[in-house]
Amino acid sequence: MKESDAKAHLALALDYDDLVMATRMARHLGDYFDYVKVGLELYLSTGPESVGALCELGYKVFLDLKLHDIPNTVRRSARVVGGLGASLLTMHAFGGTAMLRAGVEGLMEGASEIGASIPMALGVTVLSSDGGAPKHVVPARIEAAALGGCMGYVCATEDVAEGKALRPDMFAVVAGIRPKGVDRNDQIRAATPEEAIRSGADMLVIGRAVTQAKDPILAAESILESVMEAG
Ligand code: C5P
Repeated sequence: MKESDAKAHLALALDYDDLVMATRMARHLGDYFDYVKVGLELYLSTGPESVGALCELGYKVFLDLKLHDIPNTVRRSARVVGGLGASLLTMHAFGGTAMLRAGVEGLMEGASEIGASIPMALGVTVLSSDGGAPKHVVPARIEAAALGGCMGYVCATEDVAEGKALRPDMFAVVAGIRPKGVDRNDQIRAATPEEAIRSGADMLVIGRAVTQAKDPILAAESILESVMEAG
C-alpha cells in the first residue's frame, strides 16, 4: 500500500507521565503516524490538555481510557471525551451492551456539541497481555461492542480473523505489536506488524517498539515500510 495509507493504519502509544516528553516524541514521529494514543498514564498526569496539545500538532487523538462503570457515569464521561475533540475512545466491552451504548451516545453528544467530526467508540475485548482468557470471550465481547453501537473493537492480532468473520464492518484495532527481534515485555499475545496487517487489522497500536528503541525514527520508519509491504 501507499505510504499515506500505511500511516493511516498506525497509532503511536505515548505512554509517558509527562506532556513535554510526549509532545517531543509526537513531533519527531509525525511522518510515520496519523494517530497518537493517550493512555491512562499520560491522561492522569496531564489531563485534557494532552488531547488539545496533540490535536494542535495535527494528530488524531485516540483516548485509551478503557472506561468501565455504570452506564450513566460512562455516558457523562464519554461526553467529556467527545467534547475534547478525541477521535477514538475505548471502553471495556466486559461492561456490557447497556454501558457501551451509553458511552457511544455520550461520545457522540460531546462531539456534536463542539462540531467535531464523528468519533469512534471501541470496545476492548481481552488485553493482549492476557494469555489466559477462554476462546469464547473475544467473540462474545465483539458482539457486545456491536450491539452497544461501537464502531470497532480492540483485540490481539490472533483474534482479528474471527472478529472480521463475525462483524466484517467493524474496525479492528490491535495492540501488542513487536517487529522481529524486539522484546515482547508484558505482551503475551504479540505479533509483528506484517502479521497484524495480513490478519486484516485496521489499526496497529505501536508503543515501546518505537518509544523505547535506541533510534525511534529508524524503528518507526521500518514499521511503516513493513506495513506498506504487507498491505
Ligand atoms: O508498548 P506496547 O506496544 O506494548 O503498548 C501497547 C499499548 O496498547 C499500551 O498503551 C496498552 O495500554 C495498549 N493496549 C494493549 N492491549 C489492549 C489494548 C490496549 O496493550 N488490548
